[in-house]
This record gives sequence, C-alpha cells and structure tokens, in this order.
Amino acid sequence: MEAMKMESDFHMVKGEGENSYINNSRHQQKTLFETKPVLEKAVAEVCSAVLPRNLLLVGDLGCGSGKNTLIFLSEVIDATRGLPVELQFFLNDLPSNDFNHIFQSCDEHLKNSAAAVHKGERPTPIYIAGVPGSYYTRLFPFQSVHLFHSSFSLHWHSQFPYGLDDNKGNIYIARTTPPYVVKLYQEQFQKDLMLFLELRYEELAFGGQMVLTFLGRKNEDVYSGSMNYLYELLAQSLQTLVKKELVSQEKLESFNLPIYGASIGEVKEIINQSGLFDINHIKLFESNWDPYNDSENNNVQDNIQSGVNIAKSIRAVMETLFVSHFGESMIDALFKEFANKVADYIERADNPNYSIIILSLQRKSEACIVNALSTSRISQDIDSTIPFDHQFEDGVHKNCTPFFNNDVKGLLIIP
Ligand SMILES: C[S@@+](CC[C@H](N)C(=O)[O-])C[C@H]1O[C@@H](n2cnc3c(N)ncnc32)[C@H](O)[C@@H]1O
Repeated sequence: MEAMKMESDFHMVKGEGENSYINNSRHQQKTLFETKPVLEKAVAEVCSAVLPRNLLLVGDLGCGSGKNTLIFLSEVIDATRGLPVELQFFLNDLPSNDFNHIFQSCDEHLKNSAAAVHKGERPTPIYIAGVPGSYYTRLFPFQSVHLFHSSFSLHWHSQFPYGLDDNKGNIYIARTTPPYVVKLYQEQFQKDLMLFLELRYEELAFGGQMVLTFLGRKNEDVYSGSMNYLYELLAQSLQTLVKKELVSQEKLESFNLPIYGASIGEVKEIINQSGLFDINHIKLFESNWDPYNDSENNNVQDNIQSGVNIAKSIRAVMETLFVSHFGESMIDALFKEFANKVADYIERADNPNYSIIILSLQRKSEACIVNALSTSRISQDIDSTIPFDHQFEDGVHKNCTPFFNNDVKGLLIIP
C-alpha cells in the first residue's frame, strides 16, 4: 500500500453532519476567542505600519472551514473598523479542505456584517481569495503579506513520521516510547517550525506580524503532556480493536500520529535560533478536553457525555488519518471504544486539559540586521544586487542580498 501523505490524506470531516468538523470544533472556537486581544493588538500595530497605504493583506493559514473561519474574518474586520483600510484576506489550507463551504458561507456572513455597520459609516471593503497548498511551501510573493494568522494547525507535521518502528502499540509519545522515537518527533517539529518561519519571513512585508496558536505542552517533560495521555487512550482503543480482530497488529505497529505538542521553552528556542522574528507575546492557556465543559474548576459533571464529546472532537479532526491507514470499517468501533476509555479516565483524572500556546511574532526588519554588519561592507556592496556570502560577528556565514526599499538600505539574509 502507498505511504500516507499529509497533503492528500489529511482533511477535517467535511459537510454539516453529526461527525463533521463544523459541528465539532468548539475547542478551536474557544481558542479564537481567547486569542482575540492578541490579534487586535497585532492588527492595530500592522495597520499603523502600512498607513498611509490603505491595503492590508492578511493570510489565515490552515483556515479550515465553517464558523471558525468566519469568526477570524470578523475579528479582523472589527479591529479595523473606522480605519481607512481595505482588507484582502487569503484563506489557505490543504487542497482537500472544503473551500466551497467557506466561500458560500462568507458571502452570506459579509452581507450581514456590512448591514450591521453603523449609519453613516463606510463599510470596510473586503476581498477574499482561497490559497490551496501546504504552508510548509512558499504560498505568497516576496514581502507581500502584512499579517499571518494560524489557529490550531501548527502542531501538525509536514509529513508522516517514519523510522518509528519501535514505538510498539503506541501512536504518539507514551510512557513506553523509546527516547530515540521522542527525538525523531522533536526533530521533525523543529524542522517544520523553522521552515515555516523562514517561508513566512520571506512573504511578510516590513513591519509584518504573525499570530499563531497551536497545541503545546505545559511541562518540559516530553512524556507528561495531556496530549500524551489522550493519545495513549486512543492507542489503547486500537489495541482493543486488535483483540477483537477488527484491526491487525501489523497495521497498529505501523501507525504514528504526525503531531507534536511542544513546550514554550522549545518554541522559544526555535524562534531565537531562526533569528528572523521578535517575540511580542507568548503564553499558554488551558482548555478542558471536553469542549462543552466551561466550568471554572473543570469539574466533570457527566463523564459518559464528556467521553462522547471528547471522542467526537478528535474524530472530526483525525478521522481521515485513521480511515486512510486502517480502512473505513473500523472507524465507528474505534471512536465508541475511545469514548468509553476517555469516560473512565476523566472520572479519575485531575484536570484533563489541553495546553494551548498563543504566540505573537514581529518580523525583524533588515535595518536591525544592517546594524549588525560593518558599514564599510554595506556601502561597498549595496550598489549591486548580487548575493554574496557574509560572515557575521558570531562567525556564522549567511547568504545576503543587498536591497534598497523606501530609502532603507540593507542586506536581506537568505536563511
Ligand atoms: C483543527 S483545523 C483548524 C481550522 C481553523 N483554523 C479553526 O480554528 O477552526 C486544522 C487545519 O489545518 C490544516 N492544515 C494542516 N496542515 C496544514 C498544512 N501543512 N498546510 C495548510 N493547512 C494545513 C488542516 O487541513 C485543517 O483544516
């Protein structure tokens, strides 16, 4: 059988049925509301950086489809209300995402939001385009976008993990996962995030920012994140299906989730290593595994119902991964078993929460990089646009291209 590929095998459950992403994405919606103040601040700062030009280009990466995509659009529109700007949105996701659904719902939503504008106020002109493709590739022209947003996506790897043969009976990092498997998971995350930062740096305009939200880990101990426990329960559900002969042992051994929950420390280290962005804001917030549990103290009211809610929220996101590896016939049995195991677990567990990282980044301007270079070297090279190798103060060599933009002379570092 052909190996699974993220780009073709991964998409949320489509449509508006009982198991659809649209009807089971309350976690992601709560995260958007939690991120709103950080997004508003980034929009305000980016707007003042682009004025007096009045076009703001905004990319939503891994936009999904349904209400959440519209919530993001509304948050940006609200944050620019009263400002003399036009908004161009680029909605990006993998090609098999339900783009049609977005465009149909956008039309209706934008008409309503235009109608809601106060009397005498000019509605903000809005343009929307779809950009299918992986955000682990270049998606936009050089220095063209002012603000990137990505919610609940960047924990996904660019590809399925391979070389994890000894992760027996597990599908993610579990207590019995060998350290070398953990290392492969970490290396893939580092590689992916570094690539993402490099690509977005090239695409962001001067003064550009990014607001990124993704699943993470509260503690530095890589074995102790709440994702570890949740996916251990999913692996145990698969093991039960092996016993019932609904899934083969061999299939289970060859399946590992292409996902990683990083700690804030790991994320900061990658950003600092890239040297491309300043961190404006980074924080971790916790959200109950049950998307419908909004209680302050996280008390479990009805563990059976919570088990069902949690299983449905995971199924809406991961169903296609399981179906493409194990086949369609096991999927109902898997998530029924999983709901039961989760219900048992949360009755005993203390605070079964997801840890979610909210991150706001400012693109470093080339002016900063220019300061790190010797002035004589700049004046010597700036008049040409031929790339050359430059050794920085820390001894690292990087390929640099001179540029001249809005009276700023500098060197563009090509990572
Ligand atoms: C859980 S959904 C989040 C959707 C939406 N942002 C929200 O908050 O509801 C994750 C989305 O990321 C997309 N995604 C995952 N990897 C991607 C990649 N490499 N490039 C673009 N989109 C990706 C998935 O297809 C999916 O639509």
